[in-house]
Amino acid sequence: SLDKAFAALEQQARADAAAIKGDEDVEAYRLQWLGRKQGRLNDVSSRWLKAAPAEAKKSLGQRFNALKTTVEQLLEQAAGSGPSDAALAAEAIDITLPGTRRLLGAEHPITRTMNEIVSVFAALGYSVGVGPEVETDFYNFESMNFPPGHPARDTQDTLVIANQDRRPLRDRLLLRTHTSPVQMRTMEKQPPPVRIVIPGKVHRNDAQDATHSPIFHQVEGLCVDTNITFSDLKGTLDHAMKALFGSSVKTRFFPSFFPFTEPSADVQISCIFCGGKGCRKCKQSGWIELLGCGMVDPAVFAFAAEKQPAYDPKKISGFAFGMGVERIAMMKYGISEIGSLFAGDMRFLNQFA
Ligand code: PHE
Repeated sequence: SLDKAFAALEQQARADAAAIKGDEDVEAYRLQWLGRKQGRLNDVSSRWLKAAPAEAKKSLGQRFNALKTTVEQLLEQAAGSGPSDAALAAEAIDITLPGTRRLLGAEHPITRTMNEIVSVFAALGYSVGVGPEVETDFYNFESMNFPPGHPARDTQDTLVIANQDRRPLRDRLLLRTHTSPVQMRTMEKQPPPVRIVIPGKVHRNDAQDATHSPIFHQVEGLCVDTNITFSDLKGTLDHAMKALFGSSVKTRFFPSFFPFTEPSADVQISCIFCGGKGCRKCKQSGWIELLGCGMVDPAVFAFAAEKQPAYDPKKISGFAFGMGVERIAMMKYGISEIGSLFAGDMRFLNQFA
């Protein structure tokens, strides 16, 4: 009957091994037969062998070892045979299919242009500043020498935050119309000397057309130190324009007006499309107007001196400038519609990847 019992066990072990299909079955078989705690062979050794009378132990042990060897061989064969054909077919990969293309991001042309402008000034020792896009009337206008009710405010059609009529005018919030308020925020925090460029987004209630957008970007610049002159302003901007557009570009300065600079100037560069000969892009003039600038108005220093007395116009002077990023990006990359910079159309943006 011992023979029968072992024969039955072996038969069962062979049948189970024959039913093995994949790796999971192999592991289940190993646990079922050879597992240290619940395995059937452990059951045999711990219950039968222990309980057997001393004279039967030897032959019982031999049979047990034979059965164990058989099970181990069956397991080895099953594991070595690998996954079944069906399992392989289910996992088959057609390596002739095209792969899934992963889209790579690219720097947006506005960001790229802004970074380029900033790095030209960084190379001159300027640091980078930022300020809030939702700004107070004080920083956007009053401290930049646009007094309440002053007509110069109308040149920057302002989008204001609603329901603030009960606040004092200087505290009312608006979407900044230029990056110039960050001039004041910088000076309030830091005594002279200051050399800073301020890239950022600005908003104006302008109708959209091919060259205007109610949201656009500027890079502001501010330089304050002892003995800063208009020549420093001219030399700095002439260098910057050559660095941005090529060393053969020329600059010229025209009288202009901004409340926060005196004197003020508009800067033109020789047309980068025709080299100054005259073409459609420059309306045959050979020149393109690109930015505003001027010497910091003493009235602006007076506002800064309320927090930082070192901004004393008798002791220091400075210049400031501001340029539109979209306009420069459009010129550099030959973009004719400002709207394509904001549409998020991948066919447009991929050209900059
Ligand atoms: N803030 C001006 C504008 O947006 C540009 C400017 C900046 C002009 C600094 C002079 C000096 O039109």
